[in-house]
Amino acid sequence: MKDKERKPLLQMRKNWDEMAKEDATKHIASGRGTWKINDFFLSGEADIERICMPFFESRNFNPDNKRMLEIGCGIGRMTRKFADLFGEVYAIDVSPEMIRKAREMNKDKTNIKFSECNGEDLSLCAEDSFDFIFSYVVFRHIPRIAIIAKYISEINRVLKTNGLFQLEFNPHVSRVLGVPIPLRVYNSGIERGWIFPLLKFYKRGEIDTRKLGVRVSTASFSRMIEPTELKVHEFKLGANGLWVMGEKGSHEAVGG
Ligand SMILES: C[S@@+](CC[C@H](N)C(=O)[O-])C[C@H]1O[C@@H](n2cnc3c(N)ncnc32)[C@H](O)[C@@H]1O
Repeated sequence: MKDKERKPLLQMRKNWDEMAKEDATKHIASGRGTWKINDFFLSGEADIERICMPFFESRNFNPDNKRMLEIGCGIGRMTRKFADLFGEVYAIDVSPEMIRKAREMNKDKTNIKFSECNGEDLSLCAEDSFDFIFSYVVFRHIPRIAIIAKYISEINRVLKTNGLFQLEFNPHVSRVLGVPIPLRVYNSGIERGWIFPLLKFYKRGEIDTRKLGVRVSTASFSRMIEPTELKVHEFKLGANGLWVMGEKGSHEAVGG
């Protein structure tokens, strides 16, 4: 790989390692100052109940004894609960410090394997090896569409036929003329149609540029899966994220 292509990957690792050392819980689940560790893990359980369970029920999917992959697991906020539901959980993250903390805090969950990854592909994983692939608040922070596209083609490779995926993206423009949009505004989604007036909201100090990722729209996701066997069941636009739920090689799937 050329140095120019490696730079964003190395920067991502450096940034997330820094944030893991500063205050991992705060940077993982922002919008809240300091977390009590118990509440932090409970928030992961609540997210699985809210986000994954309705999808599993809609697809008649029983996770028991199944194998799943979580991309960008952080310190295992959601991974712990996934381990109660699935037979085996493989959890990867670009930050060695996040993985070190994840291992330390989840020693009791023996069916989780945590690994540091290179931040752009799933070369650690064998093809057709997972029943479910999940990622939350990770792709929204990736600064290059090419890295996201690479992950998507890798998800296609390692997911089993009829395996499910559930992935979250940033649907909003995060920079205007190269200027980062303040997170407050960026999270509100207000920029659609209001790009230039927005600049008046720009204030230094409100922006954590380490977290600003590229936009993924329903159209750009559909283009990325064209050469793959991935099919979309549903696009769901939430308060500040775009969820994509789908399956590999399903004949009943729609869209994509
Ligand atoms: C906001 S945290 C979310 C963690 C976890 N998904 C959760 O919901 O608790 C984002 C995580 O994604 C990881 N990450 C960022 N870019 C990544 C990449 N390209 N590949 C893998 N992990 C990445 C970061 O190190 C960090 O742990």
